[in-house]
Amino acid sequence: MKILLLGSGGREHAIAWKINQSPLCEKLFIAPGNAGTSLCGENVKIDPDDFAAVGRYATEQGIKMVVVGPEKPLVKGIADYFSNNSGLKNIAVIGPKSEGARLEGSKAFAKEFMQKYQIPTAKYQSFYKETLDEGLRFLESLKPPYVIKADGLAAGKGVLIFDKLKDAMNSFKKMITERMFGDASDCVVIEEFLEGKEISVFVATDGHNYIMLPEAKDYKRAGEGDTGPNTCGMGCISPVPFAGQLFMKKVRNRIIEPTISGLVKENIDYKGFIFFGLMNVDGDPYVIEYNVRLGDPEAEATLPRINSDFVQLLKQISNKTIHEYKIEINPDFASTIILASGGYPGNYRKGYEITGLDLIKDSIVFYAGACCQNDKLITSGGRVMAITSLDRNIEQALKKSKLNAEKIDFQGKYYRKDIGNDLI
Ligand code: AMP
Ligand code: GLY
Repeated sequence: MKILLLGSGGREHAIAWKINQSPLCEKLFIAPGNAGTSLCGENVKIDPDDFAAVGRYATEQGIKMVVVGPEKPLVKGIADYFSNNSGLKNIAVIGPKSEGARLEGSKAFAKEFMQKYQIPTAKYQSFYKETLDEGLRFLESLKPPYVIKADGLAAGKGVLIFDKLKDAMNSFKKMITERMFGDASDCVVIEEFLEGKEISVFVATDGHNYIMLPEAKDYKRAGEGDTGPNTCGMGCISPVPFAGQLFMKKVRNRIIEPTISGLVKENIDYKGFIFFGLMNVDGDPYVIEYNVRLGDPEAEATLPRINSDFVQLLKQISNKTIHEYKIEINPDFASTIILASGGYPGNYRKGYEITGLDLIKDSIVFYAGACCQNDKLITSGGRVMAITSLDRNIEQALKKSKLNAEKIDFQGKYYRKDIGNDLI
């Protein structure tokens, strides 16, 4: 089978790497891909948001499956585009249609959905320009810290947390009246702050049944000791020691199953992945957010732990037999450390040469913001590479990733040296 993967990050390199290991994949194309995905298949210069171009290419190449890495094309309706087009509707798309993608594309929708199906989440209210004053009063009624979220997609920047009421009120006003995040903040969700440990849980679903994929703990802050600005993730550990059997049973019973049955009740046909961003509050799971894709850098830690055939898994999502898929998971720990460009997640420079990859032996290196220019590998993004190491012992897994993080070099490189320390 010929497969087209959409996206260009570390997650997509990890997906491409996994797809490329399957004998069921005859040829893999990645649009647009990065320097790492080109080692697993053929990169094609197509923008994943240009559905007509994606569709044309898929037809020309005889592609049978499109795997969508990032959320944006899903929220914009790529799965709908394929299913509504007579020439494309027989191509399997891994990823939900736009209605299902609203779980990530609209925080207000996700909150309403959770409330309707009694899925534990922080208490909240949604506000618009017309209800600005009510929003301010609602903020006053809460205890700090204050959590304010732009409803729509805001490239991971739409969640603001404040200790001071005054700052929260000012930003809330700015979000709505000055359209701080454009359309994404026409509606703003204010919610109660949840205190606990975060965990990322993933399922593959065909819309009726699901299977659990390995979970991970992501480290979102740029600085050590969970300080500094929020990023999209600076590293990951999988499995997560505090996600024991009892906790995961609660996750399945209280969160995953009501979510899948809620989708069925809403007549939402969902084929793809659901990423549950959870908070463990004194042993009870609460949903912080839904995502309709795999995580980044979570995919770089979790996919290497899946030993069974990943393309077979994708096929069974598509032909609605996911419950028959026998997933084999490596019990070893995976540690993933992100090498980032100095300045990320703020301003940073690109175009620095990356060296030292030839010295890496016992880790897998996934490329993110890295591209080839004149036969040189250069930095092209904030998160440049993800280094993943596996070991039965979490400390050893971390040691390997850190040793290799030292070997790879580029100007301005930084990484968090404390990933996983809280779990040892
Ligand atoms: P989100 O984009 O919804 O994942 O939010 C980004 C980050 O903000 C999350 O990973 C959490 O660390 C934090 N966060 C979001 N909502 C809450 C909440 N209700 N309570 C505590 N932290 C939160
Ligand atoms: N690492 C968090 C995310 O992928 O959204």
